[in-house]
Amino acid sequence: MPPNVPFNPITETIKKILSNGSLPASEFMALALYHPEHGYYRRGVSQWGFDGKDYYTALDLGPLLGEAIAIRLHQVWLELDRPDPFTILEQGAGRGWLGRDLLKAATGDFSQSIRYIHCDDSPIAKQEALIALDYWLNSGQACLKNQSDETDSFAGAIISNELFDALPAQPWRWDGGEWKREVLISLEGEDTGLTQWEAAEPGEAGDWFSRHAEGGLQPDDGSIWTESLPCILETICKPMRKGLFLAIDYGDTAPRLIAKRAGLRRYLKHQTDGRWWEAPGNSDLTADVDLTRLTYLLERQGLRPQKLATLGQWICANAPLAQWEAEWQELRQSERTARKQNLMQLTLPNAMGDRFKVVQANL
Ligand SMILES: C[S@@+](CC[C@H](N)C(=O)[O-])C[C@H]1O[C@@H](n2cnc3c(N)ncnc32)[C@H](O)[C@@H]1O
Repeated sequence: MPPNVPFNPITETIKKILSNGSLPASEFMALALYHPEHGYYRRGVSQWGFDGKDYYTALDLGPLLGEAIAIRLHQVWLELDRPDPFTILEQGAGRGWLGRDLLKAATGDFSQSIRYIHCDDSPIAKQEALIALDYWLNSGQACLKNQSDETDSFAGAIISNELFDALPAQPWRWDGGEWKREVLISLEGEDTGLTQWEAAEPGEAGDWFSRHAEGGLQPDDGSIWTESLPCILETICKPMRKGLFLAIDYGDTAPRLIAKRAGLRRYLKHQTDGRWWEAPGNSDLTADVDLTRLTYLLERQGLRPQKLATLGQWICANAPLAQWEAEWQELRQSERTARKQNLMQLTLPNAMGDRFKVVQANL
């Protein structure tokens, strides 16, 4: 256990499970993030931000992502012939900052027609969203909903930032003769002895990896598999009658994830490593999103996916850079510098520009 990480009762739950056998990494991830009381996204501790927090997202860097999405959705509103209301459902909405930034940036009749729905069961995220969205909650333009609440059918958009990388995922490897999944066998002892690869029936995952391994599957090839993805996508997409699905996440195509042998990643106090079993409930766990599969499943929901773009490409194609530059001239020096830094973070390849991708699909 790293120093200064408080005790989390999930550890005891996991030890009990391990006394009867191994625990697959995806089940560990589900407990560590979503245990109803002590899970990383269910306990009452805020994890987003810089000093003293575990990780930041594009929203911590400034309002430009929200401003660019407001412009993109304004176009969608025009293409759909100005529906009123134009519903924006944000799944995995966290603190509500993306909603706040886009509602602030929306203009004219478009801004009046927006109905923004924040969906996230994290109690601390909801508390923070009540503050961030206060103005629009009071005006009736925004509301918070639970993940299990039904949403009425709507025209508009489904948006998310870093939702899919937070879904429980299972690493698999092909050993040349059979499929093996990564499991935890103990929480005590040397790091090298805590996990192992255990033979198991991969179901659809095996076929998927075999089909997408470039040049054929080699021993030790494999990737991560998010079992819940079809079900979650179906729930999210069901209420949208027409509109745009727009997800920002980090990940890659299936062949590239297999080539790099994707696994789980852990974030704690801005340090990242592969020690996913350490400090369950007190550190973030995440996995690259298989964007080939996400796109394939969106098609199965009847949506028409667009060409995948990196975040950098998407910002450059959708944000009014010349207009922003002119507007920023009017700002104080410190604010102008902050906007420029925000833009660089979103677009530079080694910042978020290449690592993050934008998945868009129309209905
Ligand atoms: C990595 S955080 C991103 C939060 C926020 N979008 C941001 O960028 O700051 C992932 C969030 O997704 C939420 N989440 C996970 N599964 C979800 C689901 N099926 N529906 C809605 N939210 C979900 C978690 O509670 C968590 O707050």
